Amino acid sequence: MTTQSRSDIAGSTDAVILVGGKGTRLRPLTVNTPKPMLPTAGVPFLKHLLARIQAAGIQHVVLGTSFKAEVFEEYFGNGEDMGLEIEYVVEDQPLGTGGGIRNVASKLRADTVMVFNGDVLGGAELGPILEAHHRNDADATLHLVRVPDARAFGCVPTDADGRVLEFLEKTEDPPTDQINAGCYVFRRSVIEEIPARRVVSVERETFPKLLEEGRRVFGHVDNAYWRDMGTPGDFVRGSSDLVRGIAPSPLLEGKTGEALVDESAGVRDGALLLGGTVIGRGTEIGAGCRLDDVVVFDGVTIEPGAVIEDSIIAAGARIGANARIRGAVIGEGAVIGARCELLDGARVWPGVEIPDSGIRFSSDA
Ligand code: GDD
Ligand code: MG
Repeated sequence: MTTQSRSDIAGSTDAVILVGGKGTRLRPLTVNTPKPMLPTAGVPFLKHLLARIQAAGIQHVVLGTSFKAEVFEEYFGNGEDMGLEIEYVVEDQPLGTGGGIRNVASKLRADTVMVFNGDVLGGAELGPILEAHHRNDADATLHLVRVPDARAFGCVPTDADGRVLEFLEKTEDPPTDQINAGCYVFRRSVIEEIPARRVVSVERETFPKLLEEGRRVFGHVDNAYWRDMGTPGDFVRGSSDLVRGIAPSPLLEGKTGEALVDESAGVRDGALLLGGTVIGRGTEIGAGCRLDDVVVFDGVTIEPGAVIEDSIIAAGARIGANARIRGAVIGEGAVIGARCELLDGARVWPGVEIPDSGIRFSSDA
């Protein structure tokens, strides 16, 4: 297929992004901010996905929102700054993934609709997924990836022609390592068949029903970068991979390296920033600090000698001198006193203050 026809296909496709989830596994970061808006390699996570959609030639994007719906429109507006046309549909009560897709149906214009989970960091080219959909004359096409452990995902076995045999959401005994990557192409009429105004899971209800009815449901497997950003560990790793250029983003071309530091941040001499660490606006890093694989949001102060690894430090937090933090999430505006130790799974809620030497937390202790 020529480049021209590939861009024709994308140009006549609508994108839908599901961003209504509560992001429970990323608490307390998601108490005030929806998961797709968390800063990731310097910009809200969703901006990387929107840039990929734009780069693929899709222009019309509908966001299916629920939790903290207003935050998205405040930031992205009508999308013209990104060369997109973005519309928003709000669910007063979360309708689930299938219900969220059905709920945007009145905004759709194209006969082909590409739906994205809003928390997936992916490097897949969208054009070939759309081409496979048209080539197969499919009712639905699922982007699939292979993972070492399929239990936390939707497991999707296919036959030799790529036809989907089953859809098994979060099963204890997955028959294959091939999983739903959270990106689907639908014929628009299939979306219109989803029951309206009630909770529907696309994974547990819509896909199994389409298969039961013998509809044309295909999988498109590739080996591109892929990560669900739903847990603190994956969020940190995904951000670092973006900073280091392991995960591609059109927003970071020519800017990748060991660390990404906002130009308004202050990093004192002798501070070491490694492993894809990102430092947000107005953040101050003291002398002798060592940050390895850390996501630091805006307006954070880290005092001299602190050592931080594999962690997320939310906006306005303060980390005392010589503190040691590893595998932790520090909430907005929290204060961690000097010499505190927070290791392996510690989560500090927004605004909590821990006095100097006030804690030694490790889940192994
Ligand atoms: N609009 C709307 N309404 N969006 C929702 C709702 C809702 O009620 N519930 C969840 N979402 C959005 C979330 O914001 C997220 O972007 C996406 O739907 C998927 O929800 P998650 O809660 O992140 O699901 P998951 O990660 O456990 O599993 C899903 O993604 C995996 C791949 O990352 C499933 O689709 C799996 O099959 C898949 O393998
Ligand atoms: Mg997810």
